[in-house]
Amino acid sequence: MAQMSGDNKLKVYVETYGCQMNLADTEIVLGIMNKSGYSPTRTMDDADVVLLNTCSVREHAEQKIHQRLGVIKKQKGDRPGLVVGILGCMAERLRLNLMEKHKVDVVVGPDEYRKLPQLLEGAFSGTQGIGVRLSRTETYDDIVPLRTGGISAWISVMRGCDKFCTFCVVPFTRGRERSRSLRSVVREVERLVEQGFHEVTLLGQNVNSYRDDRFDFSDLLAAVANVDKKVRVRFTTSHPQDLSDKLIDTIADHDNLCKYIHLPVQSGSNRVLEAMKRTYTREYYIELVRKIRRRIPNVALSTDIIAGFPTETEQEHRETLNLMEEVKYDGAYMFKYSPREGTPAYNLGNDVTDDIKSRRLSEIISLQQDISYELNKSLIGKVVEVMVEGPSRRSRVRDKKSDIQLSGRTDTNKTVVFPLGSSKPGDVVSIRIVRASAATLFGEVAGSI
Ligand code: 5AD
Ligand code: SF4
Repeated sequence: MAQMSGDNKLKVYVETYGCQMNLADTEIVLGIMNKSGYSPTRTMDDADVVLLNTCSVREHAEQKIHQRLGVIKKQKGDRPGLVVGILGCMAERLRLNLMEKHKVDVVVGPDEYRKLPQLLEGAFSGTQGIGVRLSRTETYDDIVPLRTGGISAWISVMRGCDKFCTFCVVPFTRGRERSRSLRSVVREVERLVEQGFHEVTLLGQNVNSYRDDRFDFSDLLAAVANVDKKVRVRFTTSHPQDLSDKLIDTIADHDNLCKYIHLPVQSGSNRVLEAMKRTYTREYYIELVRKIRRRIPNVALSTDIIAGFPTETEQEHRETLNLMEEVKYDGAYMFKYSPREGTPAYNLGNDVTDDIKSRRLSEIISLQQDISYELNKSLIGKVVEVMVEGPSRRSRVRDKKSDIQLSGRTDTNKTVVFPLGSSKPGDVVSIRIVRASAATLFGEVAGSI
C-alpha cells in the first residue's frame, strides 16, 4: 500500500451530503480508513484522498455534487497525485457514468465501504476502482465509527428500505432492509456512555421495521434506554405504517426516550398517498397522531412533505395544508417533488409545472412557519429542560465573552438559546422561556438539574 507511518500517515478528507444516515456512514468510512492507517483531516488542502459521500434523493442534491466535482477536478489538475472518490447513493445510482463523466478514481456504493482501502491502494497506482454491489447482510456491525466528539452520537441500527414509495430512490441506492443485532447496538451505546456521550440517535431509513430475531424496535429502544437513564435516546425515521402501540408505550414509559417523533406524512390527500404507495390513509395517519398524543401528552411531531407530486391537483394540495393545520406539527422538512429516473413515479411524468410546485411549496412553508411560531410562543413563561450542546450559532462568530450564548435542545427537539452561565455541554439545565421565533426559543436559566 502507498506507505504511511508515524506522522506520514495518508490523510483523508470527507465531505458529507444528504441525510443523517450519510453522516453516520461517513463515521463508519473513517473507522474503516483509520484501521488501514489513514488519518482524517479537516481541509482538502493537505489531503491525499478526497471523498464525497453523496445523496441522490433529489435532483438538486446531485447537481450540487456535479458542480463540486468540477471544482475538485481543477485542484486535481494542480495536484496530480490527489485521489478522488465518490461514495453513497450517487455512486450506487450512477456507477461507471460517474467515473466517465468526472474521471474520479473510485466509486463506492453504501454496502461496499470495506473495499475502500483496497480500491484506494489501486488508485494510488493509477487504477480506477468501483464497488457498487448491494448486500442483503452488510450492517458494518463490527466497525467502530470514528466520531468527532461532541455530546451526541449517531448509531445506524438498520440499513436499506423495503417500502418502495413510488417517488423514492432510496430502495434502489441503499438496497434491502437489514438490522444490526440488539446486542451489538447495546454494546456500542455502553461504550459511548463510557466515552462521555450524553445523547444517542438510533438511525435507519425506517427504524420501525427493525428486527433482530424476536426483538423489534421497541425492544431495542427499551434496551438502549436502560443502558444509562441519564443518556437521552432519539431515533429517526418512523414510517407511520409500522409505528406500533408497543412502540408508543415504550416511548411513554421511559423518561430518557425523547418525546419527539419524526413521522413523514408526504401528502394529506388519500389519492396522492395511494399514488405514492405510502400504504396508509389520511384518516389512519390522523388517528395515529391522536393515539400518540393521548399516550404521550407533550410529544413533539415533525414530518416530511412533498409539494407537486405528479398529478397532484390544487384541491389535493389544499388537503395537505388542511392536514398540517389539523396535526399542527412542531416542525417539517418540505420539498418540491423531484423526478428520479428508475422510480415508479418517474413514469407518471412531471405534469405539475415548476412555478406551481414553487408556489405550493411556499404556501406549505409559510403555513408551517406560522404553526411553529404559535407553538413556540405558547411556551413563553414555561420552564423547559435543556441539554446543553455548546455556544449558539451566532455566538460562534462573535468574540466578546459577554455576548456568548449557549444553545441546547429540549427532549422535544426544540432549540433553546440562553446566556452563558456555568453549565457545560451535556448538562441538563432548567430554562425559563422568555421569547420565541418559529425556529428557536430564547430563555434564561431557572436552575440546574
Ligand atoms: N422528490 C422530493 N422529495 C423526495 N423525498 C424523497 N424522494 C423525493 C423526491 N423524489 C423526500 C421525502 C422523504 C425525504 C427524506 O425526502 O419527503 O421523506
Ligand atoms: Fe424512501 Fe419511502 Fe423508504 Fe422513506 S420509506 S426511504 S421515502 S422508500
